[in-house]
Amino acid sequence: MTIRHFLKDDDVTAAEQAEILAIAAELKRDPQSRKPLAGPRGVAVMFEKNSTRTRFSFEMGIAQLGGHAVVVDGRDTQLGREETLADTGRVLSRYVDAIVWRTFGQARLDEMASAATVPVVNALSNEFHPCQVLADLQTLKERKGDLGGRNLTYLGDGANNMAHSLLLGGVTAGLNITIAAPEGFEPLPWIVELARVRAAETGAKIAFTNDPLAAAEGADALVTDTWMSMGQENDGLDRVAPFRPFQVNSALLSRAAPDVTVLHCLPAHRGEEITDEVLDGPHSVVWDEAENRLHAQKALLVWLLEKYEAVRNE
Ligand code: CP
Ligand code: NVA
Repeated sequence: MTIRHFLKDDDVTAAEQAEILAIAAELKRDPQSRKPLAGPRGVAVMFEKNSTRTRFSFEMGIAQLGGHAVVVDGRDTQLGREETLADTGRVLSRYVDAIVWRTFGQARLDEMASAATVPVVNALSNEFHPCQVLADLQTLKERKGDLGGRNLTYLGDGANNMAHSLLLGGVTAGLNITIAAPEGFEPLPWIVELARVRAAETGAKIAFTNDPLAAAEGADALVTDTWMSMGQENDGLDRVAPFRPFQVNSALLSRAAPDVTVLHCLPAHRGEEITDEVLDGPHSVVWDEAENRLHAQKALLVWLLEKYEAVRNE
């Protein structure tokens, strides 16, 4: 067996994703029930971009699992002085049982994972935010039960980490995914290809459109995210005018199913991608969604550490 990592949403099969979500529900009922990190064993949690939810939820979650989180700003480590990712991965693996990392390009995570001898978890990259989507799926399951055949529409930047992870993680859960984005902001083709492969296995449907109102029609879940992700501040693109028609507001909401659930990974830019009325309204589940980061990530660590233990005992 090889070490399992969680770098993008299809690093787990549909059955494995369901297992992780079941552990997440169990941990939500009984937060202290699993202590795989008792000792305490350590987890490295590194950030190269800002974070509130990810940082707090991992640090608290690791404590609840009996472990110790070493939380650092990646720029303060020797990575900031050009020690290689591979050397860093090798060294960290001698101290901790998992590496959780928020960084820029996905290739950096791939490089870290190829050298590390412990599980590596993507805590957000430019391309994916798979821990967030585990929490989103947990939140939706709490509202809707079985997700197979349900319709989720994401509106906004179709080429960002949330769009990609909802696409790939969503079809893994059997959700039909529609991505509505302005022209030029469609998902990356290689990620669409991965999603098509996974959708063929689970029977989920995928659709892309530049028409936000048509995309919202009958949706069971509406999701949006910032129009300007971390690292895109100076990309020279107009990230306001083309996005305005994609705002999640009451008019758009009225097109969706009457019991539509509204998700947003947060932080929200109120009045831009979502209005106060919707974010604070009865369809919004964003605070439960934020809470579920804790449970879903603990479940992911429990699951990865079980696999890691099996490799170590070979
Ligand atoms: N949703 C999310 O990842 O939030 P943070 O950037 O605050 O961690
Ligand atoms: N797409 C956003 C998500 C923040 C949690 C970003 O990358 O900034």
